[in-house]
Amino acid sequence: MYVNGQSARQTTTTTPSVTASCPLHTSFLPFHLPIQGTNMKFTYLTVAILAIGTSSFGSNFAHADPDPNSMVNQFELTGGKFEGFRRSGAKGVCASGEFIGSPEGKNISSSSAFSGKAIPVIVRFSVGGGNPKAADNTKSQRNLALQFALPNNEVWQMGNISAPVFGAATPDQFFGRLQSLQADPTTKMADPAKVKAFADANPAVLLQGKYLASKSVPASYASTNYWGVHGFGFTNARNEKVWGKWVFEPVEGVQTLSDEDAKSKGPNFLFDDLRQRVASGKVSFNFNLEIAQAGDLLDNATIPLPEGRKKITLGVLKVVSVSPDSTGSCLTMIFDPNIMPKGVEGAPDPMLRARTASYAISFGRRITEGPKQ
Ligand code: HEM
Repeated sequence: MYVNGQSARQTTTTTPSVTASCPLHTSFLPFHLPIQGTNMKFTYLTVAILAIGTSSFGSNFAHADPDPNSMVNQFELTGGKFEGFRRSGAKGVCASGEFIGSPEGKNISSSSAFSGKAIPVIVRFSVGGGNPKAADNTKSQRNLALQFALPNNEVWQMGNISAPVFGAATPDQFFGRLQSLQADPTTKMADPAKVKAFADANPAVLLQGKYLASKSVPASYASTNYWGVHGFGFTNARNEKVWGKWVFEPVEGVQTLSDEDAKSKGPNFLFDDLRQRVASGKVSFNFNLEIAQAGDLLDNATIPLPEGRKKITLGVLKVVSVSPDSTGSCLTMIFDPNIMPKGVEGAPDPMLRARTASYAISFGRRITEGPKQ
């Protein structure tokens, strides 16, 4: 392992031996980029012992992840059940695009995504949450889901969100948060005392909401940043590895609405706005990677990289068409962020790992019900 200037690089042979396959380890053992010159085994062992002795880490220790069926049931119990729709990101539209990787992308990853040739991409834009009638003019989450169709039938899928952090650090914490928000059958409202008690014990669940509340309503799907929130590793042809967190940033810049303008736009303007902007040929995103430095935490989706990390552009995604209605190829598929090409890998983040099975359960339910949107 060596640290190269501002960027932390390591050879694959010395990748820290964090046990991604062991739920106990990944749910309470922070995955930092190694600090130069430290003995990794000693560092992680020390952290593990400290973690068992502290309540914040210890609270995760005794729990296995909630099973994906219960997780998706809880989505329905908290957010409502809407047959045929995704249990999260329900209000969405299919689009298509192409990605052209940059020389910087090619330099850090051997993936064919960065060959510099145009790669076809299936795109889906959506509003966060399970409600297919969610309002477009509120300060809520927007999503950008992508599938890159790489040569030799390789596929890269991802689901990115309009905040640099997610609303929970572990599946268990996410489940608890959803439970705390579930409406009481009598009052039809969430119990504020329950919501507060859970958030007080798990303050990380408030970070995403605070971020979104601090920003104005996005003017368009095309003019918003979308973060991957997990840590990802990129390995190049020389077997060197770079870790970081990515963000898709609109080439034309971020645009927002004043409160007044948001009100006058009404609850359903995002699809038509996107169609108009794509028709004008102006919807492109830079695929940027913020590069982690030694000591940065990579396995927690509620903690972004520190400000000011070096950012490189891995390529440009251009959206070229949008479905005129609620049909399209994104309807009958999922965007599973654990499907990555050779040359790209995920950090051992328990939230990343937990996504696959829940997406598959949601997919099974909506396909059986008759897929919509
Ligand atoms: C344990 C954690 C999580 C669970 C259980 C979960 C669950 C789900 C489910 C059930 C869906 C609908 C899937 C489908 O029917 O195709 C979904 C969609 C989505 N999720 Fe998650 N999610 C989790 C974490 C995250 C995180 C950390 C992010 C942050 C990037 C994220 C971003 C998205 C996006 C962007 C979509 C919409 C994808 C699309 O358009 O098809 N999720 N999630």
